[in-house]
Amino acid sequence: MSATPSPLQPSDPDRSGTENSAPDLGQLPDRLVPDFIAHWVVKTARSAEMIDWYGHVFGARVVHEDNQIAFLTWDHESHRLALVKLPPPVRFAFPLSRWRRKTYGIDHLAFTFTSVEKLLLTYERLTKVGISPVWSINHGPTTSLYYEDPEGIRLEFQTENFPTAQGTAEYFTSADFAENPIGTDIDPDYLLEQLRAGVDREQLLRRGAGTRPGTKPRSNKRAITWKTL
Ligand SMILES: [Fe+2]
Repeated sequence: MSATPSPLQPSDPDRSGTENSAPDLGQLPDRLVPDFIAHWVVKTARSAEMIDWYGHVFGARVVHEDNQIAFLTWDHESHRLALVKLPPPVRFAFPLSRWRRKTYGIDHLAFTFTSVEKLLLTYERLTKVGISPVWSINHGPTTSLYYEDPEGIRLEFQTENFPTAQGTAEYFTSADFAENPIGTDIDPDYLLEQLRAGVDREQLLRRGAGTRPGTKPRSNKRAITWKTL
């Protein structure tokens, strides 16, 4: 179970009745905010590599492509990702662009898997096609695998470690969190081995569960290196 269930979306079969209707203009809530993330757009000089990568990672399909733009989706949204195509040589004009996120601006986008099984089986599937995480860590609230697309955009694939939002909220006020707010690196292959050996899911999500016996993982600030930053 996810501690933070995804918001109801237009194609969600659970969405029914009043949730689908327009708000009562006479009784608007105090604060209206967007309902969910729809898509993001990337200006890229590597559009072919990006389409291939998102095809492998998200099962993305191209719904429109011309020589200026491509729209990709992998669910009910018309597009989840749009690629604005730049001439390939433009990449040489911004040789440090993929390092920008290490120092300034948006760091990553995070995507939740509703079970640790889904997260680890995705890890296994992607490893087989040569796509590996740049950082694997149990943050405490989540177990997270970070990937980078061909433009260096970082995507966090995560699953919640606590079964309820209340459990997560309480963890943020705990001594464990105060002592180590970053988390402890994990070995996803070791977690997969334990999953296949029948180890309880809750056990796999505990901090330290991803540490292969005989190894010493990086924890807290030591987990942040030039590679993982
Ligand atoms: Fe994150």
